[in-house]
Amino acid sequence: MKTDKVKRIALLTSGGDAPGMNAAIRAIVRSAIYYNLKVVGVENGFSGLINNDFIEMKSHSVSKIISRGGTILKSSRCPEFKTQQGRERAFNNMKAAGIDALIVNGGDGSFRGTDLLYKEFGIPVIGIPCTIDNDIYGTDFTIGFDSAINTVIRAVDNIRDTAESHNILFFVEVMGRHSGFIALNSSIASGAEATLLPEIRTDIDQLCHFMEMERRKNKTSGIVIVAEGDEEGGAAEIAQKVKQRLPNYETRVTTLGHIQRGGSPTCNDRVLASLLGHAAVKGLLEGKTGLMAGQVNRQIVFTSLEEAFSKRDKIDKSWIEISKIISM
Ligand code: ADP
Ligand code: F6P
Repeated sequence: MKTDKVKRIALLTSGGDAPGMNAAIRAIVRSAIYYNLKVVGVENGFSGLINNDFIEMKSHSVSKIISRGGTILKSSRCPEFKTQQGRERAFNNMKAAGIDALIVNGGDGSFRGTDLLYKEFGIPVIGIPCTIDNDIYGTDFTIGFDSAINTVIRAVDNIRDTAESHNILFFVEVMGRHSGFIALNSSIASGAEATLLPEIRTDIDQLCHFMEMERRKNKTSGIVIVAEGDEEGGAAEIAQKVKQRLPNYETRVTTLGHIQRGGSPTCNDRVLASLLGHAAVKGLLEGKTGLMAGQVNRQIVFTSLEEAFSKRDKIDKSWIEISKIISM
């Protein structure tokens, strides 16, 4: 079904920035122009909708951004959008600017806001999953995840050199407050000895026992990857608890922090962002709304925004066991 109701679309980036957001912006703008649509960039996420931060986007507006991290439209966290009045202001501003539809690049929080805008005011919307956390249901990967885990494993490889040279047990904290994808994938890829995830209860005594067994195998150093959302605390707290039980161990802590969110996107993220950006525009033209564009088994798949943010994607717990088996 093709609709001629959509003539002027807007796009924004919201929530935590993710490498590949710029590639998605480029694909949306260029696809929209190809299909004879006008495109408006909204700066500063949902705050920009409320404050009329609108700019006309042309093909040259997105030149040479595919390789850049961050987002040229800027992002924000906007408490006002969580209120009905805030969303009403946003909708009225869009109406006044002649905007017929909106594409939101963000994570689950951004999709909650987008879904409300769609349900309350009926404006056509499509979401594109952009978050380093990879926790969105309805897509094999989110834009930014591949870049983030590659940043993590480069860092852990470097840390490993010092760990081995000085016989140190390192605790490396990675992002993912509610989701262990970054920790689990980077742990497997860097050969870490142990992984602590928010999805699995951490037992410090068991961790110490495991470390002792590793020592008996003549391993004099080690890497423990800790997801920031672990209920036993961050890497520093966990390292302290381990040190209390194993005082002879030399321990160090590295928190990778926001270096995981920045940097040039990987090839996988650029391609995914380009395909989903194009799919979102085409989807709007076909009359799709209230949906997220994702990629499953290399096919473009649309999932309702509500499912995308409420089901969330879950880690495969069997990978933890595999990770242990192959790092021994
Ligand atoms: P992400 O999209 O990366 O998950 P956040 O959770 O910070 O990031 O959400 C980004 C923005 O989305 C918030 O600042 C807010 O403006 C909007 N948002 C989040 N949750 C809701 C909600 N329940 N209702 C309306 N808007 C929301
Ligand atoms: O959702 C992306 C993310 O980077 C999470 O992994 C992390 O928990 C959170 O955002 C950090 O947010 P902020 O930069 O606002 O502290």
